[in-house]
Amino acid sequence: MVTALSTPNIAFIKYWGNRNAELRLPATDSLSMTLDSPTVEVTIEPADRFSVQSQKELSPKEVERFKKHLELTNIYLHSLHYSLPTTNYSLTVRSKIPPAIGLASSAAVFSAVAKAYAALLEEQDIRLTDEQVSILARLGSGSAARSIIGGFVALQTTHYSLQTDAIDSAIAVQIAPASHWPLHDIVICPSLQEKEHGSTEGHHLAHTSPHYAERLLQIPRRQQECIDAILGGDFEKLQKVAEEDAWDLHQVAKTSTPSLQYLTEDTHRITREVTALREAEHVAVLYTMDAGPTVHLVCTEDAVDAVKEFAHAQKDCTVFETKVWSGARMVEAAHA
Ligand code: PMV
Repeated sequence: MVTALSTPNIAFIKYWGNRNAELRLPATDSLSMTLDSPTVEVTIEPADRFSVQSQKELSPKEVERFKKHLELTNIYLHSLHYSLPTTNYSLTVRSKIPPAIGLASSAAVFSAVAKAYAALLEEQDIRLTDEQVSILARLGSGSAARSIIGGFVALQTTHYSLQTDAIDSAIAVQIAPASHWPLHDIVICPSLQEKEHGSTEGHHLAHTSPHYAERLLQIPRRQQECIDAILGGDFEKLQKVAEEDAWDLHQVAKTSTPSLQYLTEDTHRITREVTALREAEHVAVLYTMDAGPTVHLVCTEDAVDAVKEFAHAQKDCTVFETKVWSGARMVEAAHA
């Protein structure tokens, strides 16, 4: 039995759309910061048949996703001439994240699952690199690849291989460790209701938006600006490029067919108020939104008290206080 722990990440340059949906090979690079909470723990043990347990009842489609992930994990491991010790497993997921509200729940879950499979291999003295574990995570959720690694992390689409559909042709790599820049992410959830359309559906519909082709053209520039901003510790540059990319993603989602509207009136109000706070009081804070109404307020150490005060003053919202950290880890690796 092995247990691994992981967390969400927040993307400054967002992954939206795949070049290969089955293998979750993203159409573009993306870049995020790995967060220290809320945590997800996954325990995996060999079993007679495949099953997944979690606090909430999983739909057959959700269980199928874990099953498919194991199938793809085996394909990738065989390509490395490795294999997991048995055929079937029982997975137990303990999550502190409200599901499907744009708080990267699937990123935390599949990075923990990937890390746990890697722990099973370690019991056979096979040690995967972080990049290889990031591929395992990506096979369950593209953004999960980034939570394997700590600090500031890029998901690069064609690093290893010239074959664009190769299973290992998108990997996560660290741009800078967590210690490089102690940024916080104060997360405001206006609603804990599950969203109607998951990001898997969004990736699938991305190409139906008339704005998507332009997004694909802009990402390489944004990715480079984001890397430069992080390496140079230039918060204003990071703020500009992250907000530009977040609005662009939501423009693509909204103009997809069918239209995907993740943002609510509360999201828009919070972003307006944050802009006003930034301008009036020179607070180093930026906002960004994933596939849900949740607003992430990323800020520097100096700004964190003002940002927390702002977040907790929001009526009827749930607030999570998170910070950059060092990435997924194994909790326990004992033989069953
Ligand atoms: O990993 P997925 O399939 O849940 O997609 C994540 C999509 C966004 O959260 C909106 C963007 C990102 O890069 O995290």
